[in-house]
Amino acid sequence: MSKLHEHTPLTHSEASAPEHIAIIMDGNGRWAKQRGLPRIAGHRAGAESVRRTVEACKNLGVKFLTLYAFSSENWNRPESEVKALMQLLERFLKEKTKEMMKQNVRLNAIGRTDMLPAKTRKQLELAIETTQNNTALTLNLALSYGGREEIVDATRAIAEKVKNGELDINTIDNDTVTNHLYTAGQPDPCLLIRTSGELRLSNFLLWQLSYAEIVILDKFWPDFSESDLTAAVAHFSGRQRRFGAL
Ligand code: IPE
Ligand code: IPE
Ligand code: MG
Repeated sequence: MSKLHEHTPLTHSEASAPEHIAIIMDGNGRWAKQRGLPRIAGHRAGAESVRRTVEACKNLGVKFLTLYAFSSENWNRPESEVKALMQLLERFLKEKTKEMMKQNVRLNAIGRTDMLPAKTRKQLELAIETTQNNTALTLNLALSYGGREEIVDATRAIAEKVKNGELDINTIDNDTVTNHLYTAGQPDPCLLIRTSGELRLSNFLLWQLSYAEIVILDKFWPDFSESDLTAAVAHFSGRQRRFGAL
């Protein structure tokens, strides 16, 4: 793991983009506090950062982008903040679907989305359906997402199949688990970025991040820019990934 303090700007041609990038978008609250603003102002600025980042990833040739937008644990925040976040998400989906169509971005959600308020879920389903045939980049929004919960859900689905006689217990292997996660069919993220300096995973993609390179930035999420993304990608490209071998 390393912290990036200085940037080495890089153009596309210099590095091949990671196929799948995952981002823990952290620091909206602190960004707002620093400016004497309410936390929700930070979340609003964070949403704008999402828009920029999706576009930048698409331009780099990234095929999958997974953004941690709302964790299982975030339900424990004050009701007013949860409510404001859900409203912001609804508005974001409503406003950005057109842009996702223009950018050829397919939206997907991972997490226990059945826990979202009905109105939010409806807007989410509509955006997913509208963008389902887009091919440039798949944007996974992690909503009501927890890595442990995901593994529990996969375990339940696998156990159900064993019980019904659809699956032989002796054939269960890594691929079986992978294929029952919310991200089934997608490659694992090869790069994880976390903003605002915390050195933890916060229950994000616990299975899928086994071999991801990790870049931690001190910047708050609303300040994350295209040059931060290219710097993180450059950093990733410069690392030797050994996967346990020599
Ligand atoms: C990340 O920013 C956004 C969500 C978790 C929804 P935070 O809200 O965690 O901001 P900080 O970490 O309190 O600054
Ligand atoms: C992780 O950030 C969740 C999201 C970015 C959605 P948190 O701010 O919720 O995580 P902790 O509390 O720092 O672990
Ligand atoms: Mg936080």
